Amino acid sequence: MFKRRLKKKLTESSELIVFQLMTDDIPEGITHCAREDKIVEGYFIPKGASVIANIWEMLHDENIYKDPFSFKPERFLGPDAEPDYGNLPFGFGRRICPGMHLADASLFVYTATILASFNIGKPKDKEGNFIEQDVEYSTGIVSVPGPFSCTIKPRSPTALANIMRD
Ligand code: HEM
Repeated sequence: MFKRRLKKKLTESSELIVFQLMTDDIPEGITHCAREDKIVEGYFIPKGASVIANIWEMLHDENIYKDPFSFKPERFLGPDAEPDYGNLPFGFGRRICPGMHLADASLFVYTATILASFNIGKPKDKEGNFIEQDVEYSTGIVSVPGPFSCTIKPRSPTALANIMRD
């Protein structure tokens, strides 16, 4: 399925954007509880301790990603592609999210449909210059961007007709 998707440039970039977005949107895994005392890489984890995977840190590791705080889905393309750990937001081990394939396929379809239907861009000022915005993300188990402005326009008359259809 993934190989078939990657044949088309539009779908390829859609998928990459989804992966890039997910690195920002799910910063932590679900809290787990240690069932026994354990030493992991020199750290003592006592039985009963709450353990939270720091997915955000893993996906912003400056030893792995160049410029990890910039939105650059193209970082996953080409011969010098950076590693794609797009599965990390779904958790780890036996309790990994069982809905990950449904979620991934759904996000792919939503993103591809939106990109096929609309041109989404930065707003412009009266002189026609793009307005740059600093968007802050919330913290917590799910991180979302604060308010920002953008333009959303149908890509073509056919796209508009499809959007307006009942
Ligand atoms: C982008 C969408 C989604 C993300 C990022 C996500 C992420 C996660 C994460 C991080 C966990 C905890 C894994 C762990 O404990 O280490 C989880 C668990 C779970 N997810 Fe998802 N999930 C998504 C969509 C879905 C969907 C669509 C379904 C069902 C149709 C689903 C069903 C579940 C269930 C049942 C669990 C509990 C599994 C268990 O405790 O054994 N998830 N998910």
